[in-house]
Amino acid sequence: MIDLRSDTVTKPTPAMLKAMAKAEVGDDVYGEDPTINRLQEKCADLFEKEAALFVVSGSMGNLVSLLAHCQRGDEIIVGKCNHIFLWEQGGAASLGGIHTSTIDNRKDGTLPLAEIESAIRFDDPHCPISRLVCIENTQDGRVLSKEYTDSVGDFCRSNNLLLHLDGARIYNAATALKLPVKSLVSSVDSIQMCFSKGLAAPVGSIVAGSKDFIRKAHRARKLVGGSMRQAGVLAAACIVALDTMVDRLQEDHDNARLLAEGLKNIPELNVEPVHTNMVFFSKKDGDVTKLMQSLKENGLFANNVDKYRVRLVTHYGLEKADIKKAVDIISKASRQAAKV
Ligand SMILES: Cc1ncc(COP(=O)(O)O)c(C=O)c1O
Repeated sequence: MIDLRSDTVTKPTPAMLKAMAKAEVGDDVYGEDPTINRLQEKCADLFEKEAALFVVSGSMGNLVSLLAHCQRGDEIIVGKCNHIFLWEQGGAASLGGIHTSTIDNRKDGTLPLAEIESAIRFDDPHCPISRLVCIENTQDGRVLSKEYTDSVGDFCRSNNLLLHLDGARIYNAATALKLPVKSLVSSVDSIQMCFSKGLAAPVGSIVAGSKDFIRKAHRARKLVGGSMRQAGVLAAACIVALDTMVDRLQEDHDNARLLAEGLKNIPELNVEPVHTNMVFFSKKDGDVTKLMQSLKENGLFANNVDKYRVRLVTHYGLEKADIKKAVDIISKASRQAAKV
């Protein structure tokens, strides 16, 4: 099978496995795991933030960030297409008593400043308190520019709001923009980044921000059962991910473009523009249910984000030959689906 469902399907590299086997560990609940401490310091440096905290997943990183920034009855402003709103079980509400105000993402993944402004609540006992804006970069593979992120940061500071960045794939954005990752996070109060996606580590995310924010996030991590003990074995893989897997993300972006170019030759499909490592397409004549079935039967795992759109994600472990094969499978499956 060729697996293009997500960049989360990657397996750890040989260098990661070696580093995991050799990792120096300690009890991280006592703050005594040297490898976790090294990872946290490294990330704080890379993001130019005061401190960082290792967590098991992107969802936990986002959740502890929201719990650290907000009190019960506070409100976050977030895009309707953003992971925090769509795919994290409404953890902010169910666990934090945090209310959510959603606005439509623009086609480029951004949230228009004017709409963020309209979503801010009056100072009135009827209303929750607007506390935090959440943006996502990359957002469904689309890249938020540094200028945009900085403009939201300026806006938040002028309006007494905080800004959280779900940067699960911020290194993909940095690769596409050819900018150091620190420049994309300089205006946010907190960032969450995943090691377990394009960077191919088996587990782990980091949150970074001020010392005070990390102190609160650390408490929240304990609350949600996310404290770990000798998890330096995991952090070791994440350090290797940062040292060896960032530069190769361009390969994933090139493969995504190659894939999209191939798919554009299939008359039955509409292929969306590619920005990083994700390719989205739909069928010109309706839903993709039969096509999805046919892809699987022909040896390709893909993800249908809804009834009409298919998402393919390129990642470590795929060769150019796999991309060509994937195009052939989709071409064949599209013809088959058109016949039935
Ligand atoms: C943008 C974004 N944020 C957060 C997450 C959550 O990460 P995890 O699956 O590690 O909880 C994902 C997962 O795909 C994601 O795509």
